[in-house]
Amino acid sequence: MGFSTDAIHAGQEPDPATGAVSVPIYQTSTYAQTELGRDKGFDYARSINPTRLALERSLAALEGGKSAFAFSSGMAAITTVMMLLKAGDHVISSANTYGGTYRLFVHIFQQFGISFSFVDTSRTEQIRHALRPETRLVYVETPTNPMMEITDLEAVVVICRERNLISVCDNTFMSPFLQRPLALGFDIVVHSTTKFINGHSDSVGGAIITARPEHGERIGFAQNSAGAILGPMDSFLVLRGIKTLGVRMQRHDANGRALAALLADHPRVGQVYYPGLPDHPGHEIAVRQMDGFGAMIALDLGSLEAARAFLNGLRIFTLAESLGGVESLACHPASMTHAAVPQEDRQRMGLTDGLARLSVGIEDLEDLEEDVERGLAAMKS
Ligand SMILES: Cc1ncc(COP(=O)(O)O)c(C=O)c1O
Repeated sequence: MGFSTDAIHAGQEPDPATGAVSVPIYQTSTYAQTELGRDKGFDYARSINPTRLALERSLAALEGGKSAFAFSSGMAAITTVMMLLKAGDHVISSANTYGGTYRLFVHIFQQFGISFSFVDTSRTEQIRHALRPETRLVYVETPTNPMMEITDLEAVVVICRERNLISVCDNTFMSPFLQRPLALGFDIVVHSTTKFINGHSDSVGGAIITARPEHGERIGFAQNSAGAILGPMDSFLVLRGIKTLGVRMQRHDANGRALAALLADHPRVGQVYYPGLPDHPGHEIAVRQMDGFGAMIALDLGSLEAARAFLNGLRIFTLAESLGGVESLACHPASMTHAAVPQEDRQRMGLTDGLARLSVGIEDLEDLEEDVERGLAAMKS
């Protein structure tokens, strides 16, 4: 089946109880048992819920995984992945991840005796140099948030297979429409479904998709034990969003490419970080492992004042945290999404105070181009 056929049908068969074509919102916490020790496959809604189950089946199909698990946020999903580890284990992670991921690793999981090396995973040799006997997991975000660095997923798989490490990819920026890490040999994909997968900025959620049955079993156990599940209403919303994921991503990608080209040529803009630009250091890998370049663009405007003028000058792009919705959003990573990352680490990765990040929506391109020009014009020359 093609991607959009799966997006509309996989896991979303008509409801067996009523024939409802749209998966119903099973807003229940428990299920009547037919007799002692016998139920209809559903016992308690933290463990299993038909609306969530439909979403999990849909996500497994789209990412090409064996099983999928839906969570109350992207961070809940990442937290649950880390429950595969124990005290003494070591993790190698992309240095430039979403700021909340960094915060979770450093300020929560380090307390439990898990250690981390943060490296530039776009340079695979840095992963090799960070390997230790106790390394258990490699965690990559690609493209990274917000610097848009590209990690060669197949090269990471080679290292992880040699050393029997769990490979985890945060695929939030691409969605399974544009990148499928499991098909390239990764073990686990995580998502903030809050972003492109739901796509309408009306639900916070997360997901884990696993390729190996042993990981699926342990993640399922952790999901039920820790309990950070996605509720039925949000599961319904994400299912609804998924139905248009293919068409939305095509439009996001087309708008993203066009705006990145405009910005790259603009005299008021410094560096533009977008993997579709031929001079992006990860461009060739992006062409190989992605089916498009997506809608996330970072641009360096030279100073905090310039970034402020630009962001305040926009009218269609809304100044807000988050990304991946149908509406265009803009943010200032240093003071918003990545404020949790220490300033010296931000500087090291190029995340300057003059950096702005755009999540390009699916509005009419001409309006978005005009808006970006308006923002740039608001900067003092
Ligand atoms: C790449 C990435 N991963 C994970 C998260 C966390 O997801 P959530 O906000 O749904 O907890 C985010 C949030 O911005 C993100 O951008």
